[in-house]
Amino acid sequence: MSRYRLTVLPGDGTGREVIAEAMRIVEALEVNSPLSFDVTEIPCGGQYYLETGEEWPEGSFEHCRDNSDAILLGAIGWPDAKLPNGDNAGAQCILGLRSGLDLYANVRPVKLYHGVQHKVHGIFSDIWESDLVDMVLIRENTEGLYHSLLRRSAQAAIGSKDEPIRIEEFPGLEGEVAWDPRPISRSGSDRVIRFGFELAARRESKSGTHQNVTCVDKSNVLRGCRLFRQVFDEISEEYPNTNTNHAFIDAFTMWLVRDPEDFDVVVLPNMFGDIATDLASVLQGGLGMAASANIGDNHMLFEPVHGSAPKYAGQGKVNPIAAISSVQLMLENLGVRHDDEDATICGEILESAITSHLSEGGVTTYDLGGDANTVAVGTAISERYKALLNEHYT
Ligand code: IPM
Ligand code: MN
Repeated sequence: MSRYRLTVLPGDGTGREVIAEAMRIVEALEVNSPLSFDVTEIPCGGQYYLETGEEWPEGSFEHCRDNSDAILLGAIGWPDAKLPNGDNAGAQCILGLRSGLDLYANVRPVKLYHGVQHKVHGIFSDIWESDLVDMVLIRENTEGLYHSLLRRSAQAAIGSKDEPIRIEEFPGLEGEVAWDPRPISRSGSDRVIRFGFELAARRESKSGTHQNVTCVDKSNVLRGCRLFRQVFDEISEEYPNTNTNHAFIDAFTMWLVRDPEDFDVVVLPNMFGDIATDLASVLQGGLGMAASANIGDNHMLFEPVHGSAPKYAGQGKVNPIAAISSVQLMLENLGVRHDDEDATICGEILESAITSHLSEGGVTTYDLGGDANTVAVGTAISERYKALLNEHYT
């Protein structure tokens, strides 16, 4: 019997709609499994800012830091919701947590489920065997090109008044210049790359399939990337039985689409990871299928990758599976962190519920070629999940 403190941040737009479906899964766990959750829901984001002038209620960051075993986030970002400094309102709720809680590994699985059609050719097609697409992209989450915005957002969340980052001069450029430094540190690279190798080892023992770890960078051009690759090479020597690869980000995007079967675990600096994961999601049926985990040594936050999608908000039509799969990642990671066999089992059963729903032709939203709405898909998967949990636990 394990009890976890779960903080839920529905956020903006379709984030709220998909979180409602993710919470059906949490309710199923409450009733039909040994796990239980103390849920605290906190309103936040750009829309909340437009209504209240605050990104979230005071004390929210501290609640996430001090009273949460896991955080589940919908999406942050709303058109015209800007802070006085021009940053997106709500940044402290997502970037402030990534930085302020040191959630250094942004883990984004890319897996094509049987029964899901991708649209790489512009039409729905199941020409690829699902088994060819099964990888995890791990995006460095606390530095790189996001560093200054991450810091600003964390300072806002923590209420710190530290000095802003100093500006340098750029000889050869004239007039107004805006720039974002892209610092990459040895320690920041070390921890996320090590996380990648450890995850590869876990995937290998679970699946029995040999795992490849690929380092994606632009070390032919950028000094930060040279350090990232150097650290990768040093760590790879500690894992002599793991196959490793290097790819420059430009070539990687081509190989990713052309030969997805070549990739198992991929580590990338922050912005490259942001871009590559949206691209990679097409291989799994689109952003509506893309879940993520933001993991640090003391905290973890789970979120669908798709964002608030303002143009679909309020229509009840977006795919809730990315949010439901984010709950699956939460269970898996609670299992690892707390050595909790029930959390691990409940995560595996949720994966089976999603797998069987899709492979048996269960209802889907428009992005997968179906015509069901968000609630219908969420309800169907949670009912299936309840039945599978019951079967296992009674
Ligand atoms: C993501 C999103 C965020 C990011 C935005 C909403 C700040 O695109 O999680 O990939 O850029 O990291
Ligand atoms: Mn993104």
